[in-house]
Amino acid sequence: MNDSGIPQEGHNKIPKGWLAFFFGVIVFLVWYIASFTPAISGWSFYKEFEAEMKAGEKAAASATVDPGKYLGKADAIAEGKGEFGTTCAACHMADASGGIGPNLKVALKYGSTPDKLFESVSMGRPNGMPPFQQQLGNDKILKVVSFIESLRK
Ligand code: HEC
Repeated sequence: MNDSGIPQEGHNKIPKGWLAFFFGVIVFLVWYIASFTPAISGWSFYKEFEAEMKAGEKAAASATVDPGKYLGKADAIAEGKGEFGTTCAACHMADASGGIGPNLKVALKYGSTPDKLFESVSMGRPNGMPPFQQQLGNDKILKVVSFIESLRK
């Protein structure tokens, strides 16, 4: 308590650092609000969104695979055969004649063209065919596809 009647706060100056911080915050807030107000800075959520969508489309386009990439190429077929032996033979047999999974040398339910085969292997099929995109990646899957296609000729 202080009842001397003399105003005490008048003697105390606000520390400079405090003042600087105080005005700094105000300046920052004005800048922040201005820079995210479309009418002032031109910033727009929609512009950012569109830019992101474009970037995404580009990435998707460059990620599209050419399902025929390794068709008829002997080395790729040999590699595909090796991969098939380790990864797929348990269900489809090493010669793809079928076991738990169907015979892959005949016309297939989900399609026998390279792009359909790629789809079957990369995304899986509902009645027990697991997806292999994560495990093998595009390149190995394409080699396996070229191996399966080579069995038809
Ligand atoms: C766990 C057992 C299993 C493994 C491992 C497996 N498959 Fe299959 N696969 C199946 C079954 C079951 C189906 C039938 C799915 C269906 O009819 O919906 C199938 C279906 C397929 C089809 C589509 C056949 C059609 O009728 O259209 C292809 C192509 C195929 N597998 C290729 C492969 C390849 C290549 C591998 C190795 C990378 C592989 N599978 C590994 C069980 C397996």
